Amino acid sequence: MAEQVRLAEDSRVLVAGHRGLVGSAIVRRLEALGCHNVLTRARSELDLRDQAAVNQFFLEHRPEFVFLAAARVGGIQANSSHPAEFLHDNLAIQTNVIHASWRYGAKKLLFFGSSCIYPRLAPQPIKEEYLLTGPLETTNEAYAIAKIAGLKLAGAYRAQYGFRTISLMPTNLYGPGDNFDLESSHVLPAMIRRFHEAKTSGASEVTLWGTGTPRREFLHVEDLANAACSLMENYDAPNLLNVGVGEDLTIAELAALVARVVGYSGRIVFDPSRPDGTPRKLLDVSRIHALGWHAQIPLERGITSTYDWYKRYASQAVSTWEARA
Ligand SMILES: NC(=O)c1ccc[n+]([C@@H]2O[C@H](COP(=O)([O-])OP(=O)(O)OC[C@H]3O[C@@H](n4cnc5c(N)ncnc54)[C@H](OP(=O)(O)O)[C@@H]3O)[C@@H](O)[C@H]2O)c1
Repeated sequence: MAEQVRLAEDSRVLVAGHRGLVGSAIVRRLEALGCHNVLTRARSELDLRDQAAVNQFFLEHRPEFVFLAAARVGGIQANSSHPAEFLHDNLAIQTNVIHASWRYGAKKLLFFGSSCIYPRLAPQPIKEEYLLTGPLETTNEAYAIAKIAGLKLAGAYRAQYGFRTISLMPTNLYGPGDNFDLESSHVLPAMIRRFHEAKTSGASEVTLWGTGTPRREFLHVEDLANAACSLMENYDAPNLLNVGVGEDLTIAELAALVARVVGYSGRIVFDPSRPDGTPRKLLDVSRIHALGWHAQIPLERGITSTYDWYKRYASQAVSTWEARA
């Protein structure tokens, strides 16, 4: 009979990357589900690039379920200026954690990839089977290559050893706990901070990178955490799963929406000499919809609560992230 893999209230659950956007949302979700044996370690306590330290941790604590949400993550600028770290750190973190999870008897591991693993010019919306069918976007190629290696590694442990690994490919995420450091943040939190600061200083104009024409999709991280915890229990197959909302908008439309939520009424200017990234990135979510999961949080409501969080924790969030950079 197949081994029971139910996430019970007393299951030992490791959330790797628990201080990050995704990891912190998963911890909140697990707490809401009543899980009281959630294992967490900050990078300063356990550097997941350190194989010996990771093995020692797994030997001592024997996590049963592993959410692998630790990674070096960033926007276009951070990706293109630090390709060595994006490739090295992500390869090291995922290799160490996936191998140790299998070696020390974890029941199941959930790996987070990203929508940037898909070819730059993939047909839209992007189906899971488009993986490795064309060249990647160059601005985040190092990160994407590492993520592809990670999901292939997770798949290989499943195929060869029967280790239950599942891989989710979330679209662009945002929400409480996001990174608001302008050097390394993603587009949505960067806009929140830029418009907030422009409103506060009375600036008449905000210039944003690129042409404003690329189309992007945004998923609230609480929706992702709900999906991840549910799939950890209910999904056990080698197929990747896209996680998104199934709708996108242009960067210019997003800017107008964020400016409205923040209350910034100055001019929004685009600088076309800066890179745009992939022209369009909308995930096909029919596979996850067929499993019964749908995103619940509309974009405007999600941006409003993220802005509330930013105002409440702005100085703390910014300094944490600037300290990490
Ligand atoms: N954010 C998105 O839009 C998005 C979209 C698609 C997929 N994803 C995926 O979701 C996962 C989590 O992303 P996120 O946005 O939550 O990232 P994040 O906010 O940057 O958090 C990353 C976490 O990883 C930890 N970490 C980084 N390097 C580490 C190391 N060497 N040792 C131990 N811990 C380390 C950090 O720990 P410290 O806090 O201690 O430094 C942090 O808690 C990633 O795999 C990412 O690819 C994210």
